[in-house]
Amino acid sequence: MLTSVGTKTRDKVSASAKNGSIKLVTGNSNPELAQAISAHLDLPMTKAVVRRFADMEVFVEIQENVRGSDVFVVQSTSYPANDHLMELLIIIDALRRASARRITAVVPYFGYARQDRKAGPRTPISAKLVANLITHAGADRVMTLDLHAGQIQGFFDIPTDNLYAAPVMVRDIRERFDLGSVMVVSPDVGGVVRARGLAKRINAPLSIIDKRRERAGESEVMNVIGDVTGYTCVLVDDIVDSGGTLVNAADALLAKGAKEVYAYITHGVLSGGAIARITASKLKELVITDSIQATEAVRNAPNIRTLSIANLIGEAIDRTASEESVSSLFD
Ligand code: R5P
Repeated sequence: MLTSVGTKTRDKVSASAKNGSIKLVTGNSNPELAQAISAHLDLPMTKAVVRRFADMEVFVEIQENVRGSDVFVVQSTSYPANDHLMELLIIIDALRRASARRITAVVPYFGYARQDRKAGPRTPISAKLVANLITHAGADRVMTLDLHAGQIQGFFDIPTDNLYAAPVMVRDIRERFDLGSVMVVSPDVGGVVRARGLAKRINAPLSIIDKRRERAGESEVMNVIGDVTGYTCVLVDDIVDSGGTLVNAADALLAKGAKEVYAYITHGVLSGGAIARITASKLKELVITDSIQATEAVRNAPNIRTLSIANLIGEAIDRTASEESVSSLFD
């Protein structure tokens, strides 16, 4: 697989860049997003090779001089997670050995984030291991989006910017719904802070779904906290993986009198039978971002739509390169 990468001394991007030439490099996980970021920054793509040897080892060759450059590597560690993680690490290593001045790992979807604590005896904290790997490969900074848990930033001892898809989602929600009839819903107790943040931005009320298994072996009971009767419910979460959480939440909300149910989820992991499950569900629509490149099945799903976070990430890259505030993007 041949992958294009970008390089250009900044001219259209902020003239205030303090770090000399900036470059965009991408692995194979999400070249479409990298291209869209490149278009936003008006930073033409240059060449690099990120390919496999016959035994599937990853080989990287950066085909331009990066000495002294401020390099941004765009690579989500999405499916196949281990291959894409390895590509990221090897790209960073290649850049470091090529004397890049600063390397930022732009990881819109940070895989392994759900393994952020010891879930039981003798289990790993894989998110911490992945953070160590990225750091030891040679990254100077990390930029990511809607981390599963904000405190994962603390797993890195290098600066970490956790961006939020909320502004992109809020714009879409404002355009599509009568806000007076919208109820934001967190599909589980763990997601309340994220959902509350979005509810606040659109001045909507918040409900919470409390999933509980009363006894081992019995199916999960979904208790809806809050009166959703007559509301257009908007489920907000960071990840949709099997789709089980969303589909069950939609059923529970409709059973409690919700008028209709939509979902805005940052990372469309959508593994296994997720797409079939969502297509067959009572969800009116699932809106995801392009933090993970859409498969053909996602593109063809009648009730799944994708919003792009390319401009948001492009803007954050621009601000990082010119040492301006990134957090003010979310004020
Ligand atoms: C869990 O804490 C996450 O925020 C998501 O709710 C979860 O990963 C969704 O998984 P699934 O789609 O497999 O139910």
